[in-house]
Amino acid sequence: MKTDELREMFLAFFEEHGCVRRPSDVLVPRDDPTVLFTPAGMNQFKNEFLGIGPLEFTRATTSQKCLRTGDIGNVGVTAYHHTFFEMLGNFSFGDYFKDEAICWAWEFLVGARWLGLDAERITVSVYQDDDQAYDIWHQKIGLSPDRIRRDDEDENFWPAGAPSNGPDGVCGPCSEIFYTDGDGGEVEIWNLVFTQFNRVGGPPDNLSPLPKQNIDTGMGLERTAAVLQGVSSNFEIDSLKPLCIAAAETLDVNYRFEAPHGRAIRRIADHIRAVSFCIHEGVMPGTEKENYVVRQLLRRAQLEGYILGRRQPFLHQLVPTVVELMKAGYPDLGQTIENVTDAIEKEESQFLETVERGMGRFEQCVERTRARGESVISGQDAFDLHQTEGFFMELTEALAGQHDMTVDQPGFEACMQQHRRKSGSGAFADAVMVEGPLDSIRRDAGDTEFEGYQALKARGRVVGIISDGQRVEDGIDSQVPAAIILDRTPFYGEAGGQVGDQGTLADEQGTLFQVVDTQRHGDLLLHVGELQAGQLRVGQEVTAEVNSERRQGIRRAHSATHLLHHALHQVVSTSATQRGSKVEQDALRFDFAHKQALTAEEVRQLEDVVNQRIAEGAVVSTELMDLEDARQAGAMALFGEKYPDRVRVVRIGDFSIELCGGTHLENSGQVGFCKIVSEEPVGKGVRRLAALTGPRAIARNRAAEDLLAELVVLLKTPQPDDLPHRVTVLQNELREAKRQLAKQSSQNVASVVEQLIAEAELHDGVRIVVYEAPQFSRDALRDLVDQIREKSTPVAVLVGTAVDGKVALTASISKSLVERGLSASECVKRAARIAGGGGGGRPELAEAGARFPDKLPAALQEGAAYYREQLQS
Ligand code: SER
Repeated sequence: MKTDELREMFLAFFEEHGCVRRPSDVLVPRDDPTVLFTPAGMNQFKNEFLGIGPLEFTRATTSQKCLRTGDIGNVGVTAYHHTFFEMLGNFSFGDYFKDEAICWAWEFLVGARWLGLDAERITVSVYQDDDQAYDIWHQKIGLSPDRIRRDDEDENFWPAGAPSNGPDGVCGPCSEIFYTDGDGGEVEIWNLVFTQFNRVGGPPDNLSPLPKQNIDTGMGLERTAAVLQGVSSNFEIDSLKPLCIAAAETLDVNYRFEAPHGRAIRRIADHIRAVSFCIHEGVMPGTEKENYVVRQLLRRAQLEGYILGRRQPFLHQLVPTVVELMKAGYPDLGQTIENVTDAIEKEESQFLETVERGMGRFEQCVERTRARGESVISGQDAFDLHQTEGFFMELTEALAGQHDMTVDQPGFEACMQQHRRKSGSGAFADAVMVEGPLDSIRRDAGDTEFEGYQALKARGRVVGIISDGQRVEDGIDSQVPAAIILDRTPFYGEAGGQVGDQGTLADEQGTLFQVVDTQRHGDLLLHVGELQAGQLRVGQEVTAEVNSERRQGIRRAHSATHLLHHALHQVVSTSATQRGSKVEQDALRFDFAHKQALTAEEVRQLEDVVNQRIAEGAVVSTELMDLEDARQAGAMALFGEKYPDRVRVVRIGDFSIELCGGTHLENSGQVGFCKIVSEEPVGKGVRRLAALTGPRAIARNRAAEDLLAELVVLLKTPQPDDLPHRVTVLQNELREAKRQLAKQSSQNVASVVEQLIAEAELHDGVRIVVYEAPQFSRDALRDLVDQIREKSTPVAVLVGTAVDGKVALTASISKSLVERGLSASECVKRAARIAGGGGGGRPELAEAGARFPDKLPAALQEGAAYYREQLQS
């Protein structure tokens, strides 16, 4: 049975049992923040399972495209692992339950009208205390006890882990169905989940029964097809084998399952399928989240080809095969075939460039390793390759393998850690912003009380700790980024463009936790950083102290941002509304809607208005208000932003009123001074202003003064005011000097021409003049060859010079030589190639440039050799 037939038969079977046939959900569900890719058929029915919203139907069936990367290491190695795969599912939302789910699965598998599998080869498993499921299999279906095994929560609870600590969400005991192949091996083909709980947090009370009992089943399409087609691997079925063969063809090898490169080919086939589907849905290779996964999948696949010797893009050629094999289930794939192909080819070329660019440095690492008498590339070297050349670990490892070397993985990881710590917040925050543990802390501890509008130092109690991505009670490691949650804190968590606070958490016993960033998870505030001394545990009291100097700088920048917003409305237009902002210590960025660049005059006016408002010393006040009242009062709010019913309103004097949760000064005068430093576009119809405040603004002006002072000394003027005049004088002098030089070189030219002709090598009646000219301008070179040509015929000339660290070459030949097949253009090209450059021109006269002056003599030799060869033939 073909894979397409199996898919159709499954859906038809469950339709007969009253299930509504629903289309596959997208592969990349952007509206579900808990997953990057759809991992299972049930994903699109989460609300139905939870009883949220109206139910349009209570039974459904789908064939769902899924992507999982958890087992990526096994892809291509084992017979049955994929990243991208399809899952056939049937679902009940408070409708049928265990009895029907089991009986129908059995009927579909063994029924003569359906798959007609050999019942003797089927075994099942059930959750350890699920007697109900056991009895259905044993009594209703008639399976003997030796074919029903009971397993624990790791095997027979979905998603795995309950009641101990699986992910939050709907879950339940499950029953798996296995098929025994010819060799006695077993493959799981179907999982029946009896979804009856909502799991929230840890035991003992974390499993709350759902309002209704549900069914979620998932049958692996590829696995079942392999069983039906009697092949020993998913990669041998009708919808995948042709892709393996096509992949092998693009690499000029033959595909066989057992071939040494079989694993590589299967990986390529799997990954190109996954990537094609993702890009079809508009998820391009990139640097973050799902885009990053797509890039990694592509690179891994390309790397397999690279190791097999492929140095050109090849993956993109497989897209049409993917579409051909998958179009029965997903007809719209055909519509994006060109875009997908192009995107993949572009990414492939980029990757090859990366490899090429970094190859030199990589080879140095190999040399260094060899020189040490070792065969393991150091973690530091691998890290440097990663940072400077973009060599990801798998690439470095694969290349090392070709030199019979390996890479020090733990060393590499340690360097990465170190780097994260040094580069501060962003990377740190990534390491601790883990949804599940954060949700559970928030549920147990409630939101954090923020006290930082009034205070910079306060006592608080530790209510949660995240270390190494896990929720822990204590025992955090000083090497690992951690997040500490207190019941109350003066630390401001990054929001509304304002960066998070830095500072320390400490206690009387000498504990010291360095906070490098403060982030938020809803209204939970996370102190992100690293333990320096002592230990922290839940329940402990600490003193939280914000770095006050930094916070004061942030306050200056934030209040100045409001002043700038006000100034924009006054100077430019009231439609120059805020589009985004970033507020840091004495530095701010403000994006606003505006079509054209601001003029220098407008920027100056903005700066004036802001500084007038600063000089005015206007009072800054804050107030909590109802959203409607705030709007009535004219408070500026961002479009597309959700605000709560009660909002915080920040006013400066009587001219600025904004909705804002940030920390501000008491008085605009405290900004001191604000300096706009740039104005640039950031997108269609959006401009960005950057400005500095307080000490940084002053430092910026001082740096400009220092520069002027330096110029005064260098250009030997008494006063900065004299600089423009002095520069004009110097420019005139330079122009005159150049003119003189050109005149001199043409005089030189006249004197060397005679000598060059006299000394020229004679070849078959033709003079070959090759000359390395000292510091000639391009014009002088051309002049030189013209004169040689005038004074002697037939003649073939090539002259070159090194000026300003670059090479210039000019070639010229007599007209009669063009008829003999010589070409000045060819000569100059060959010569330039030697010195790292190129050029060309007409057969009679041609010019080139090149990068390496030290190669000039060799380049001239090459040109002379060309002339000789041509004259000989
Ligand atoms: N959700 C279950 C699984 O993925 C059954 O569909 O195994």
